Amino acid sequence: MTEHEGERLQKVLARVGLGSRRICEDLIAEERVKVNGEIAELGRRVDPDHDLVEVDGAPIGIRPGLVHYLLNKPKGVVTTASDPQGRPTVIDLVPAEPRVFPVGRLDMDTEGLLLLTNDGELANRIAHPSHGVEKEYLAEVEGTPTRAELRALREGVELEDGLTAPAVASVVDGSLVKLTIHEGRNRQVRRMLEAVGHPVTRLIRTRIGPLSDRRLAPGSWRELTGPELRSLEAAVGAAGRTASGATKAGDPDAGQ
Ligand code: URA
Repeated sequence: MTEHEGERLQKVLARVGLGSRRICEDLIAEERVKVNGEIAELGRRVDPDHDLVEVDGAPIGIRPGLVHYLLNKPKGVVTTASDPQGRPTVIDLVPAEPRVFPVGRLDMDTEGLLLLTNDGELANRIAHPSHGVEKEYLAEVEGTPTRAELRALREGVELEDGLTAPAVASVVDGSLVKLTIHEGRNRQVRRMLEAVGHPVTRLIRTRIGPLSDRRLAPGSWRELTGPELRSLEAAVGAAGRTASGATKAGDPDAGQ
């Protein structure tokens, strides 16, 4: 496909939430949009399956059909596609089509933010420990951690599967602890707090990388906005990603 075929660039930009077509034309006129590394001119057409489109230097995923949902998972819902025991799953809480899958998991009793998508490449990048996407939790615990116990959390805690990476830890109020980690081990937050003597009585994930939303009610979901999706892609270094979600040859992370 040549640059004279395909979809108009402003239409593609508008579809991913960068603003109206008029605003997107302005972005192009201001030379803020590149296609395959070159500043795009008004009238440019692109092939969403092959061209790499960047706005202000950040690549944007423009393939039609990709969806990214932010769900506020309630307690008692399992993070699997189907549950042999017939318990409600996170998949039951979002639209059935297109089919999506959860990125990472939250325990059945954990509440809070969970990303669901059909964007396999982005999901792999978020889940991959090398990208270290931060996840922030609010935990209600038994007792109040002392300064020494907080220091232990910040230095890394010895668990049965090895030493954890240092966490960001603080007491918000009494027995409410804020913990930020970038690993994704099974029941990690519960085990870390238990290891320093403060079993968790309630756990809520409040942030995934740049994504947070205090107003999203438990059980509700919404699509990520264009800016949220771009900041998430930036957080996982999706710089080698083309418009189609494929990775460029030579990208050491390709295929992970
Ligand atoms: N850590 C936990 O202990 N549980 C979760 O669901 C997520 C992180």
